[in-house]
Amino acid sequence: MLMSGSVSLYTDKASLYDVDYLSKDYAVEATFLQQLICNAIQYSPAEKPHLLDVACGTGNHLQFLQEMFVCTGIDLNSSMLAIAKQKIPQAIFQQADMTNFDLAEKFDVIICLFSSLYYLLDTALITRTLQMFVRHLTSNGMIIIEPWLTPDKYEEGKCAVQANQTANVSLTRLSVSRRQRDVALIDMYYTVYDGKNVTSFQDTHAFLLLPHTVLQGIFDSLGYATEVIMKAPFQERGLIVAKAK
Ligand SMILES: C[S@@+](CC[C@H](N)C(=O)[O-])C[C@H]1O[C@@H](n2cnc3c(N)ncnc32)[C@H](O)[C@@H]1O
Repeated sequence: MLMSGSVSLYTDKASLYDVDYLSKDYAVEATFLQQLICNAIQYSPAEKPHLLDVACGTGNHLQFLQEMFVCTGIDLNSSMLAIAKQKIPQAIFQQADMTNFDLAEKFDVIICLFSSLYYLLDTALITRTLQMFVRHLTSNGMIIIEPWLTPDKYEEGKCAVQANQTANVSLTRLSVSRRQRDVALIDMYYTVYDGKNVTSFQDTHAFLLLPHTVLQGIFDSLGYATEVIMKAPFQERGLIVAKAK
């Protein structure tokens, strides 16, 4: 077995991302988001609204949302974007850091899912990022954030095991949660078989532990009213939806 130390799934092993999240139901999530957006924004049926997916990863939500929206995705990592581009050639993708980007376009909807915003480990960076979102939003547009677990819900020392298989790759992930002050650390131990070799690597993810009220307070200071939605398929982490007051 080939062993390597700390590796980033997003930069070094992007081709394994979709295997790792094979059992995540992106289609159901996208349908829920479409419903939510349809009920909240008005748009002409003749013209598709424009949607920006911040930290779009390999484009798993966009591949379903592109039926209803003109889609743009940004992500920090080119290897994730390369997979997204192959999946959805008609969408626009750009490598960009969510804390500082300028797309010279305004969107009707901005989404940032799977707790991606909470990789920013301090509230000043999150505030600056939400300012970027607001700058790219039309006046009656909406922002949808899938937050990370709140401090009261997060459990240290929790272990989870996940196994997935495609025709070419088998992958297991064992993850263990820990905490350093207001940061949740998830150590992920992967073992992968590609039909020839078994390899193993470790990746640690760090998320800011933040009560929803703090994010809502930042939105409030930017002139946005928020609603927290805790419904399936987002019942675990929830959604924070923001619209201009
Ligand atoms: C958990 S994945 C989510 C991907 C996708 N939204 C999904 O739901 O499958 C987190 C993504 O955030 C991206 N990311 C992390 N920090 C970022 C930053 N500062 N700016 C833009 N993207 C970032 C990573 O490259 C990765 O693709």
